Amino acid sequence: MKILGIETSCDETAAAVVEDGRRILSNVVVSQIDIFAEYGGVIPEVAARSHLEAILPVIDKAMADAECSWDDIDAIAVTHAPGLLGSLLIGTLTARTLAVLHDKPLYAVHHLKSHVYANWLDDMESKNTPLRNALSRPSSRGSVAPCLARRQTCSSEEYSSDFIRPSFPLLALVVSGGHTQILYMRAHNQFEIIGTTHDDAVGECFDKVAKILGLPYPGGPSIAKAARSGDADRYKLPHPKVEGLDFSFSGLKTAVLRTVQKEVGVPISYPSHKLKELLTQQQVCDFAASFQKTAVEILCEKLEEALDRYPEIQSVVVAGGVSANKELREVLKEAFFPAPSLSGDNGAMVAAAAYYEIQSGVKPTDPYSLNIYPRVSVEK
Ligand code: KG4
Ligand code: ZN
Repeated sequence: MKILGIETSCDETAAAVVEDGRRILSNVVVSQIDIFAEYGGVIPEVAARSHLEAILPVIDKAMADAECSWDDIDAIAVTHAPGLLGSLLIGTLTARTLAVLHDKPLYAVHHLKSHVYANWLDDMESKNTPLRNALSRPSSRGSVAPCLARRQTCSSEEYSSDFIRPSFPLLALVVSGGHTQILYMRAHNQFEIIGTTHDDAVGECFDKVAKILGLPYPGGPSIAKAARSGDADRYKLPHPKVEGLDFSFSGLKTAVLRTVQKEVGVPISYPSHKLKELLTQQQVCDFAASFQKTAVEILCEKLEEALDRYPEIQSVVVAGGVSANKELREVLKEAFFPAPSLSGDNGAMVAAAAYYEIQSGVKPTDPYSLNIYPRVSVEK
């Protein structure tokens, strides 16, 4: 079954053709990062306008790269929630029109589900280190990894291609620019939120800390890059005290701000956007490394607690833009991660999520009445 997946929930215009929820026949992503680097963040109206310009060429290229005609496409899938209103509108209106025009069933997919399902796509990039080997290798770091390694099992169905797939029940750690959640999945297409952030998402925290340090947008990759030359133990940053499996990241951002102010000897009233002028290159790198280490530790602590609470868990999958983070990948060696290029927003994960919805018996949406939901939970 070939599905055309369309994604426009934030600042990436993306389309892909995926066969049977796993094999990527094409994957085209046009990012607006260059536009928003200048502003230091996404401007919703500009994002929508850019989607409008890019969407049809992106879909055409996805079809051409996959060497597909419309006759070859079995269904169209599109992100309808959550995200920026204008951005969601462009993607869904395009998908609705194409579904009517070419008489294809249309599936409306939740963005966080799509991020999770990036873990079911064939990981051609990491082919040299098959997950099968990674899983049986005991980790030398952290306690989450060895505990998972013991639990990993796989049914014969999951060995059907070269790549091992996550087993149920599983925990999904969703770490993106808008969300930080731990999801419990009993089976395909069943999502229960067991932990969520009370304030900022972890990706948002990377972006805000990068701004304080004068590093370019998006903050995640630039913090990770600066951290490579930094001393992660130079600045001690606090771990928030949050009950249960929930998170809080706004305190960590403020802790970085206060520590920077103290380090450069200015009062707390000093404007945060001017601090970068007072920091040396080495201080920036040391702050980036110390922050990244703390953020990763916080995520891992909660994941460990979740694994203690749910001893039946067979796999952990990590999803969302922050899953590209190498430090996180290093610490959670035994967890499933999408191929690095599939960590961020893309159309392939939308097609994969729709495939498993279809397998779970979900019916197509009426293209004439499909709605968008800028803020809606993955449980709905
Ligand atoms: O999933 P995503 O592409 O968009 C949303 O759905 O939000 O996530 C974007 C977030 C941004 O906050 C970005 O800074 C972060 O993912 N990110 C990273 C890395 N690459 C992207 N955070 C940490 N390390 C990275 N390497
Ligand atoms: Zn996303």
